[in-house]
Amino acid sequence: MKKITGLPTGARLSVLLAVFFGLATCAASFDSLRLPEQLVERGVVPQGVSIESLRRGRALALAECKECHRFRLPDEYPPGAWPGIVRDMGAQASLNDGQIGDLEAYFVSASKAARLPPR
Ligand code: HEC
Repeated sequence: MKKITGLPTGARLSVLLAVFFGLATCAASFDSLRLPEQLVERGVVPQGVSIESLRRGRALALAECKECHRFRLPDEYPPGAWPGIVRDMGAQASLNDGQIGDLEAYFVSASKAARLPPR
């Protein structure tokens, strides 16, 4: 009797490969989206920035920065480039000054952390 399967072997293999590389990509990107606690621990947080601000900034990034294009990771741009980017994009996304400040604090710190030697 002929077995009824959903997909031919080649197609099933490509689905498996897609899932595998999809997961690998997620793991890599998550690595540069460090948690606020990790940023504080690595000493990359600018003077006067609170951990609450970093938390809000990370949450805002995840919520607001993938609507118009793929999500840009903190490590894709040097720390000094982020304030300008976040100002432009915050305007695109109609965010207020407080939100833009939180995003800047997060992206600048996470970009710095990604440039430190691993330990
Ligand atoms: C309303 C749509 C919209 C939202 C929301 C948005 N962007 Fe963008 N973004 C764009 C457009 C359009 C471009 C490409 C054209 C340009 O560079 O102006 C862009 C480009 C970028 C670039 C590339 C800039 C460069 O010069 O290489 C980065 C980085 C970026 N966005 C980050 C973000 C971040 C971070 C957020 C969240 C705060 C965000 N974007 C939210 C529309 C958006």
